[in-house]
Amino acid sequence: MGYSNQFFKAINVEPSSSAEIKSAARATSISVAQLKYYNEKNIIPSGKDLESIGENLGITELELMINMGRINHAVLDAMQSNSNKIIEILQNDYNEVKNNLAIGTSKLVFETRLGKLFEGDCLKVMSQIESDSVDLVFADPPFNLSKLYPSKMDDNIKVENYLSWSEKWIAECIRILKPGGAFFTWNLPLWNSKLTGYLHTRLSFRHWIATDIKYSLPIKNKLYPSHYSLLYFIKGEKPNTFNSDRMPMQTCPKCYGEVKDYGGYKHKMNPKGVSLTDVWQDISPVRHAKYKKREGSNELSIKLLDRVIEMSTNEGDIVFDPFGGSGTTYAVAELKNRKWIGAELGPCDIIIDRLQQLDEEKEYFESIRSNINCLFPQKIKMEREKRGIWTYESEQKRKNDISD
Ligand SMILES: C[S@@+](CC[C@H](N)C(=O)[O-])C[C@H]1O[C@@H](n2cnc3c(N)ncnc32)[C@H](O)[C@@H]1O
Repeated sequence: MGYSNQFFKAINVEPSSSAEIKSAARATSISVAQLKYYNEKNIIPSGKDLESIGENLGITELELMINMGRINHAVLDAMQSNSNKIIEILQNDYNEVKNNLAIGTSKLVFETRLGKLFEGDCLKVMSQIESDSVDLVFADPPFNLSKLYPSKMDDNIKVENYLSWSEKWIAECIRILKPGGAFFTWNLPLWNSKLTGYLHTRLSFRHWIATDIKYSLPIKNKLYPSHYSLLYFIKGEKPNTFNSDRMPMQTCPKCYGEVKDYGGYKHKMNPKGVSLTDVWQDISPVRHAKYKKREGSNELSIKLLDRVIEMSTNEGDIVFDPFGGSGTTYAVAELKNRKWIGAELGPCDIIIDRLQQLDEEKEYFESIRSNINCLFPQKIKMEREKRGIWTYESEQKRKNDISD
């Protein structure tokens, strides 16, 4: 991973030459390790280091920012003041990149009453989708973590290439999204924290949803990474659809008492459960062999997709997922009677098999729905009744008895 030596290039140092790096270190009195840090992380130096680079190498902060692709709002202001001249210089190069979006071919490999699955690059697939036509985009892209996918795509590219590729597919997703449509993307906080900058320029922010799943081992001198980021943006000001599920109250698995103290407000609780927050603690990684469709893949949980699709679409709406994987989004769209369009670089046989055997997942899918939008799932409610712990019904009865 890493960046492609933009700092060394900006200060005219050949990245492969340790003699040149040492010479820059001597000239600036910045240690070799610190110069390498700026280079590896593509960080603009600050304080005395920045002053020294200016004084001893004759390179300004502006040059560093432009050559390292790290422009700030002051540069943007200056660009806006000179927009005519800048546009004239950049327009042709920009058009070339913009028109060079779709690559390869895409082939329709499977179709149902509700959906179509294409094998090919998602940019190619999207190039054939009409603007403003889909209600929800859900995207779970590769995380650039050197994973080996069956499609054999390169999952270890330079950071700036990953980000510019992400901007390309996101731009296409935004183009095909209906005004009022929802855009969700699932990624590591590392990547989503960088991508929000771009998303904020095209869409309206709704939520950064932290999904509590541990995804790596504890790291020395750092906090234990314990959440994935699910970004939720919409196109335009208002969502066309927002049907948020309500969650059951959290109860102790041993004594069935509630985990949080709701004090004297029990009788005021909504019988449909508590409001969903932007921290989701009930999404487990897919480990169970029965539900895991693809060994070693990043298959997402049906519960997650069910919640997202429920929140942002109605029956008959169109869902698009550019990164098929094992086809979780398409399977849940089918089960929820949504139309869908899918893309997977390939091969697609796992997705096709899954969609042909959807009955296997139906029971689990239905069990998810039957345990939400209530204060207590049926089993827990019965246990509480057995133990004489309050339920919504017992509280209503108590209230009525008092007023009689
Ligand atoms: C993280 S997985 C998605 C997993 C999926 N959400 C699931 O629950 O099974 C990402 C998938 O995107 C596919 N992929 C990568 N680049 C792609 C591209 N340019 N177009 C289409 N699919 C791509 C990979 O082959 C991989 O299967």
